[in-house]
Amino acid sequence: MEQLVNQITALKEEITAWNGGDAETFRIKYLGTKGLVKTIMGEMKNVAAENKKEAGQLLNEFKLFTEAKFEDLKAAAHDSPPATHDAIDLTLPGDNLPLGSRHPISLVKNRIISIFQRLGFAVAEGPEIEDDFHNFSALNLPENHPARDMQDTFYISQNPDWLLRTHTSSVQVREMQKGKLPIRIICPGRVYRNETISARAHCFFHQVEGLYIAENVSFADLKQTLYFFVQEMFGATVKVRFRPSYFPFTEPSAEMDISCLICGGSGCNVCKHTGWVEILGCGMVHPNVLDNCGIDSNKYTGFAFGMGIERITMLKYQIKDLRLFSENDLRFLKQFTSAV
Ligand code: PHE
Repeated sequence: MEQLVNQITALKEEITAWNGGDAETFRIKYLGTKGLVKTIMGEMKNVAAENKKEAGQLLNEFKLFTEAKFEDLKAAAHDSPPATHDAIDLTLPGDNLPLGSRHPISLVKNRIISIFQRLGFAVAEGPEIEDDFHNFSALNLPENHPARDMQDTFYISQNPDWLLRTHTSSVQVREMQKGKLPIRIICPGRVYRNETISARAHCFFHQVEGLYIAENVSFADLKQTLYFFVQEMFGATVKVRFRPSYFPFTEPSAEMDISCLICGGSGCNVCKHTGWVEILGCGMVHPNVLDNCGIDSNKYTGFAFGMGIERITMLKYQIKDLRLFSENDLRFLKQFTSAV
């Protein structure tokens, strides 16, 4: 018993004078599962029966004493003043966070959108997984039509009616089906084709298509709209020409060329010595398409056009290989700033 009293007295002195570390170190040393309070509690079994009551009180009082010290240490840590400004060197450089920049496809897409928005076109979007009707049939491309070959795509095995859209004309179909006229929309988005990947073709790319349907819309409106676009996009000196073409969903149809930006029309490698480069397809919406989408083709006419954003970007920045757009090589991407 006497030994126990001496032990506790010594420990109390030690605890009162504690400067062995923070509250947690103290807790582990004295109050933890292997701490000294537990160990000394174990001494109870060596105490003679007649002293047990007194020893129990003593030990209990010691435990409370130790716990109170622990609470004091915690409170002291909490109240201690924060590090002064002198301890922080405000002149040290901050962490270097590299800034990203917009992808060239996004830059050009936004530029195209803003040009058409100024003419009153609204942006419309739709799903990338389409059904046969919206991508082909409604657009006067019935099953087994040979023109489907030009736009072979990827089908979803779960449902043979589903496919990855080959153009954003499918969004135009969806807008026409809503039946709210006039329609004046542009449809930016990602499209897919079953193509072998090369410098000039990829299995996915981006388009902006446009559609204007109202009463008395004519080919002259189409020409003027696209002429305005070209001048805003490439500058006032660029010339345009229309060549007759074929699309099942437009009649008449045309392809539009601009004078070569590299040689100014005198002939070079880029324009294959013709002085012209093709930038988009267009035409007057075929009456069958209007009828398929529930629009009265006797009352309304319209024009449509579609361009590949990659193609416009390649011309704008003189990029020779389409694959660069999807390789994510920072040396390439870093060259584009937000100004187009
Ligand atoms: N949808 C056509 C394509 O993807 C482009 C186009 C749109 C042509 C509208 C004419 C009119 O090739």
